[in-house]
Amino acid sequence: MTLKHSILVTGANGQLGQSLQKIAKNYPDNQFTFVERDTLDLSQAESIDTYFQSHQFDCIINCAAYTAVDKAEEDTVLAEAINHHAVKQLADIAKAQDSVFIHISTDYVFDGKQHRPYVEDDTVNPQSVYGASKLRGEQAIHAVSPKGCIIRTSWVYSEFGRNFLKTMLMLGEQRDSLTVIFDQVGTPTYATDLAKAIMQIVEKNKHSQLLDKNLGLYHFSNEGVCSWYDFARAIFSMANIDCAVSPIETKDYPTPATRPHYSVLNKAKIKQDFSLNIPYWRDSVQACLNSL
Ligand SMILES: NC(=O)c1ccc[n+]([C@@H]2O[C@H](COP(=O)([O-])OP(=O)(O)OC[C@H]3O[C@@H](n4cnc5c(N)ncnc54)[C@H](OP(=O)(O)O)[C@@H]3O)[C@@H](O)[C@H]2O)c1
Repeated sequence: MTLKHSILVTGANGQLGQSLQKIAKNYPDNQFTFVERDTLDLSQAESIDTYFQSHQFDCIINCAAYTAVDKAEEDTVLAEAINHHAVKQLADIAKAQDSVFIHISTDYVFDGKQHRPYVEDDTVNPQSVYGASKLRGEQAIHAVSPKGCIIRTSWVYSEFGRNFLKTMLMLGEQRDSLTVIFDQVGTPTYATDLAKAIMQIVEKNKHSQLLDKNLGLYHFSNEGVCSWYDFARAIFSMANIDCAVSPIETKDYPTPATRPHYSVLNKAKIKQDFSLNIPYWRDSVQACLNSL
């Protein structure tokens, strides 16, 4: 009997973690271990050390993160602990244990001043504490250089947890009209599509060993481009919710953290390296609504 490929998924209760749990049964050659904060607390260095003293995996997928973008402006120490120091520690462990390390980062490492989709080596310039902490996490991984990859993604939504799509569904049922920002442009990412892409990468790497040779940096979102306003309109239209949406500018909806005005990600590299077929964002919104 051959041993199954062992995969650890951190942040099991988050959007991406739950999406990986949802699709795990489609990958029976792998033995998944899903851990939550109770088992592996990324804000506690000792918790991480203790866990890995008795555990070792072929692959670690780090879906855990401090993701409260506005709260991070005040909560800098915790954001830094989880998004930077813990990531370095996980990268060190992955390297020492010869595991493939797959880490998720964000479009918020960019300042959003560009007018064409961001490629992986475009200049980074985060505008928020969250974005800066995620960037330092990336930089720490590059310094350690385990085998694996960093995948930057954007505007993640799913059936799980709290996200823009679910907030719109709730508000749309409660109100007759809403205002939504139309001068932040990007691409939504259905967490199930990202989870499938990650598993396709894991599977392909078993044969190609591409990630064993070089630490990869990739961009992933759904295909297409929209503003939050367009995203809201699409959700209401597809969910048959009668709620008028008016476009407003970012300056009319101030938030503690500054977000990029333009953060469309160019996905040519990940599509080429792993033969990915990425769904159009509106098709994935429909898929998510269908499974709610
Ligand atoms: N959401 C987005 O729009 C977005 C956009 C770009 C990039 N990303 C990145 O994509 C990845 C996945 O995001 P997501 O949307 O799935 O995030 P999420 O739903 O907020 O989930 C994050 C997970 O991290 C866990 N976590 C937080 N602090 C922890 C700690 N101290 N120890 C262990 N676990 C901890 C949370 O646990 P609890 O359930 O216990 O709180 C939660 O399960 C993250 O790296 C994020 O930065 C997200």
